[in-house]
Amino acid sequence: MKIIKDIKEIQNLTENLRKEGKSIGFVPTMGYLHEGHLSLVRESIKENSITFVSIFVNPTQFGPAEDFSSYPRDLERDRDLLENEGVDYLFYPTSKTMYPSGYSTFVNVNLLDETLCGRRREGHFRGVVTVVLKLFNIVQPHSTYFGQKDAQQALIIRQMIEDLNLNIRFRVLPIIREKDGLAMSSRNRYLTADEREQAVALYKSLKKAEELFERGERRSLKIKQEILKILYSHDLLKIDYVEIVDLAKLRPLNIIKDKALVAVAVYLGKARLIDNTILGGNNEDLCS
Ligand code: PAF
Repeated sequence: MKIIKDIKEIQNLTENLRKEGKSIGFVPTMGYLHEGHLSLVRESIKENSITFVSIFVNPTQFGPAEDFSSYPRDLERDRDLLENEGVDYLFYPTSKTMYPSGYSTFVNVNLLDETLCGRRREGHFRGVVTVVLKLFNIVQPHSTYFGQKDAQQALIIRQMIEDLNLNIRFRVLPIIREKDGLAMSSRNRYLTADEREQAVALYKSLKKAEELFERGERRSLKIKQEILKILYSHDLLKIDYVEIVDLAKLRPLNIIKDKALVAVAVYLGKARLIDNTILGGNNEDLCS
């Protein structure tokens, strides 16, 4: 696997690969990789002749009180994991390369960032969408791979691809979980042993929602109440939100007609954890 830090070098490379008729798959990440990321990498390798991964902890998507400086970083470990999978190229830029002095252009997100995580993390999705568009322009992929765990991020990027007429196939793959059900996340490493034990409550509460839905419950309030009951019974959790929303615009649903995204976010010690499930559907509902 070749590690490239220079933007022009990647652009020349992908231009040549495209001319040769190669298909390019791309997995953008912030590093500290886990099985969730690797599932995206494997899909890209399966579907494309060449796979690019990027590792860039993007400063513009972190708020001033958030964990940008403490976000876990381990390039050597990540490099070994990616090499093992058979990734062709790793784009590993510096902040200066991505945001040179005088940088002044951002992509604004409307509406879709007004709920769920967007409401709590002001400017977060503006930073995400800006860096993802930059990465797309650098790597010029045919297909790109994201995880369902960040369902709101996935929907916002899918909308950006559509709105800005990018010719990129957008795939969203299922959440990968630990044995006990906790969704894999680089931020799980912030958890103490006690917090780790309670973290599984998110998964349990979503399982309960699925169970109720399967039994025919369609009232969001009822489902929310059962989720909250489980979360409240774990004393270390501080609930940020529990929402049941539609899959297109992320608007709250009173009654679930066919499909719904159930999204939860909690604070647990130093970590803010999110998880979700799609009632009546699956990850394919987030793809383009
Ligand atoms: O999901 C992530 O890791 C990040 O938000 C992304 C998409 C790599 C942009 O920085």
